[in-house]
Amino acid sequence: MKILLTGGAGFIGSHTCVELCEAGHDPVIVDNYINSCPEAVRRIEQIVGRSVLCYEADVTDAAAMDRIFSENAFDCVIHFAGLKAVGESVSQPLRYYRNNLDSTLTLCETMQKHGVKRFVFSSSATVYGNQPQVPYREDMPSVGCTNPYGWTKFMIEKILEGQCTADPSWSVVLLRYFNPIGAHASGLIGEDPSGIPNNLMPFIAKVAVGELEKLSVFGNDYPTPDGTGVRDYIHVVDLAKGHVKACDYSAAHQGCEIINLGTGHGYSVLDLVNTFERVNGIKIPYVIAPRRPGDIAENYADPSKAKQLLGWTAEKNLEDMCRDTYRFQHNNPKGYQK
Ligand code: NAD
Ligand code: WQD
Repeated sequence: MKILLTGGAGFIGSHTCVELCEAGHDPVIVDNYINSCPEAVRRIEQIVGRSVLCYEADVTDAAAMDRIFSENAFDCVIHFAGLKAVGESVSQPLRYYRNNLDSTLTLCETMQKHGVKRFVFSSSATVYGNQPQVPYREDMPSVGCTNPYGWTKFMIEKILEGQCTADPSWSVVLLRYFNPIGAHASGLIGEDPSGIPNNLMPFIAKVAVGELEKLSVFGNDYPTPDGTGVRDYIHVVDLAKGHVKACDYSAAHQGCEIINLGTGHGYSVLDLVNTFERVNGIKIPYVIAPRRPGDIAENYADPSKAKQLLGWTAEKNLEDMCRDTYRFQHNNPKGYQK
């Protein structure tokens, strides 16, 4: 299959590109490098041992997207492109709504014009909001998002559901990711956030290589076994394999499906710190700090729908995630380009 990956140079897109190549597919990347760089694409090519077609373009640019679709007969599209920093979305809501919604609308209009009807979307567990119970199941109605980033995901899900209602020959898979971490086992590609990371694992990785002094653990008084927040961390390579399965699934399916991609296991902040220290033989200094506003105590996925519909389950454990994250960070202490 020829598959367009918008945002394919980013963290999840780059790993998915590798898995698609290894499954015999032909991925094509479009990325404007707002949060990534061409070096990531060179690293993908190094891993898979062949060149990957990559367009530098903004997905909101209708003329550029029209040209890309004219030059390639795509079977399916995976839409990763988007801005994703929760805190930044609170301070720059218009930029987040403009980029994330415009890119999706332009992409869908271009697909409609060129008769491409299979769409896999990077949604998020954030769409569920703070549910009264765990695990999170796809049939739980959203209780509302807590930030503009989350609302862009919520709205894009509605846009895509509407398109499937209007044209039932479309096939849309809304993948709700839990907390992706880890890196490719080669140590060549991984997560490369700019500035001080907001998310837990990238922060730990930078403490591990001495770039940051210590971790602040945001709250130890949650109603969880050790008082720190619990999340469903999923290895990015497992997540990438879920996309390969979702592309296959979209070929034989019509309509819109929401599918969780998580492991079904919750781990606390201190579980992650302790596992990282143990498998990598490194001390991660930390202090207990106040709760971060907007955080919830606990979430994890019910992953049974992904198993049933896609035949997919996560295979890697927390130790793999910690080991692979550190390998990438150790090999690339300043990320890709610096
Ligand atoms: P990322 O920032 O590494 O990748 C996103 C890519 O999209 C980047 O390469 C960026 O340059 C590109 N991009 C952004 N806007 C663009 C535009 N208008 N035109 C072209 N390219 C554009 O992020 P990621 O972690 O790989 O996330 C991929 C997707 O998954 C995002 O939509 C994100 O919201 C979603 N998601 C991520 C997480 C997570 O924790 N990483 C969790 C749930 C959902
Ligand atoms: C995990 C746990 C923190 C940093 C976010 C987005 C979500 C999704 C995934 C895109 C929490 C604690 C964190 C730190 C800490 N992204 N923590 N010290 O908040 O579960 O989810 O990324 O869709 O939408 O909100 O992930 O990694 O930021 O936090 O103690 O320096 O680590 O309080 O319990 P989160 P996270």
